[in-house]
Amino acid sequence: MAAPNRSSQVAWGRDDLSQDPHGAPDKASRVRQMFSSIASSYDLNNRLHSFGRDQVWRRRTVALCGELQGRRVLDIACGTGDLAQAFVSAGAEQVVGVDFTEAMLEQARLKAQRLPGVSARLRYEWADALDLPFEDASFDVVSIAFGIRNVQRTEDALAQMHRVLRPRGALAILEFAEPPNRLLRALNHLYTGWVMPRTAALIARDRSGAYSYLPKSIESYLSPLSLRGAVESVGFDQVRQIPMTFGVAVATIARRMTV
Ligand SMILES: C[S@@+](CC[C@H](N)C(=O)[O-])C[C@H]1O[C@@H](n2cnc3c(N)ncnc32)[C@H](O)[C@@H]1O
Repeated sequence: MAAPNRSSQVAWGRDDLSQDPHGAPDKASRVRQMFSSIASSYDLNNRLHSFGRDQVWRRRTVALCGELQGRRVLDIACGTGDLAQAFVSAGAEQVVGVDFTEAMLEQARLKAQRLPGVSARLRYEWADALDLPFEDASFDVVSIAFGIRNVQRTEDALAQMHRVLRPRGALAILEFAEPPNRLLRALNHLYTGWVMPRTAALIARDRSGAYSYLPKSIESYLSPLSLRGAVESVGFDQVRQIPMTFGVAVATIARRMTV
C-alpha cells in the first residue's frame, strides 16, 4: 500500500466549518488539499464507513444509465476511480475519468493496472470540472459521484456536463443527502458528525479536516429537490431521483434532450 500522503496543513479548521464551506472563495484549493491528504486511505474509509454500501450505490447508479454497450462515458471528479471502473465492468466501450487532485488520480491509475483487460477501455486525465477539455456533445454518458458537492460552483459544473453530453445522452449524479425520516436523520447526524470524523481521521491519519468537512458539506449543500432544480435550470430534461439506503445517498438521472 502507498504511504499516506499526509499534509501538515489544515484545509478545513473549526472556524472555517462554523460557516457554510460552500461559500468559501478558496473552496477549490481547500478541497484539492484535503483530497491530496486522504487519497491513499480514501477507499478503505469509504468501505468501512458506508459498511460496503458505497459500491452498491455506484453500481446502481451505473445500472440506471441504461444500455452501455458501445457507449462513451465521462466520469467527472472520478477520484480513485470506483465509478469509472463500475462503468467499464458494466460494458461501456470507453470510459474517461477526470479529476483535479493528482493524488486521487494516482490511486485510480494504480487500481486500473491491477484489473486485467481494463486498460484499453479506461483512462484517467487531469481536468477541472469547471473547464472540461472536451468537445461539445462528445460523450454518451456523463457522471459524477460524491463530486458535485465539492466543486466551487454547482451550476457552472452542470453546464459543462450538459455541453459535453450528446443529445439524448444520460447524466448521472450520485450524492449524499440527509435522510427524510427524522429519526434516521438524527442517527445519521450522530454517525457522520461525531463517530466518523474521529474514526476516519484516525485511519487516514489526517490533519486536513476532511472528515469534519464531510458532514458539514452535506448538511449545508443543496437538497435533492434543489439539485434537481439546478439540473433542470442548465437544460436537462426527464430528471429522476432515486434515494438509496433510506435517502443517505440519492442518484439524480437526467437526459440532455436539446440538440
Ligand atoms: C468525494 S471524492 C469522489 C470520488 C469518486 N467519484 C468516488 O465515487 O469515490 C470527490 C472528488 O472530486 C474531486 N473534485 C472536486 N472538485 C473538482 C473539480 N472542480 N474538478 C475536478 N475534480 C474535482 C476531488 O479531487 C475528489 O477526488
